[in-house]
Amino acid sequence: MSAVPTYAELLALADAAAERAYAPYSQFQVGCAVLARDGRVIEGVNVENAAYPLGVCAERTAFARAVAEGYRPGDFVTAAITASPCGGCRQWLLEMGVESVVFRNGGRVVTMTPRELLPESFEASALP
Ligand code: THU
Repeated sequence: MSAVPTYAELLALADAAAERAYAPYSQFQVGCAVLARDGRVIEGVNVENAAYPLGVCAERTAFARAVAEGYRPGDFVTAAITASPCGGCRQWLLEMGVESVVFRNGGRVVTMTPRELLPESFEASALP
């Protein structure tokens, strides 16, 4: 893999991560690979629970893992996801400040910014 992974390489890492998802209820395995500015790639998978609403999306496990390791919003360049991000994860992608999001949607590969994914969003600047 080259020094800076391509979108295709990041998606391939997300695909490999998805194999490790814990999704016994939906059977829908999702992977996310986040490229940090320091060149590291942090991966996440969806982790479901018998209490269904407690399940966590792949994007959120990736970012939570990164933050736990010391990364902060603004430290991220790209998030590659094996599926179209849900509304809640779009909010996370915005908060974490990734520059671009690449994901599969049906047969297509889509690249968008978090603001394009979540226009007119609620964000920190709205808070007193
Ligand atoms: N899922 C994700 O991991 N990320 C998304 O952005 C969309 C949905 C997961 C949640 C649940 O475990 C499964 O996909 C089916 O909704």
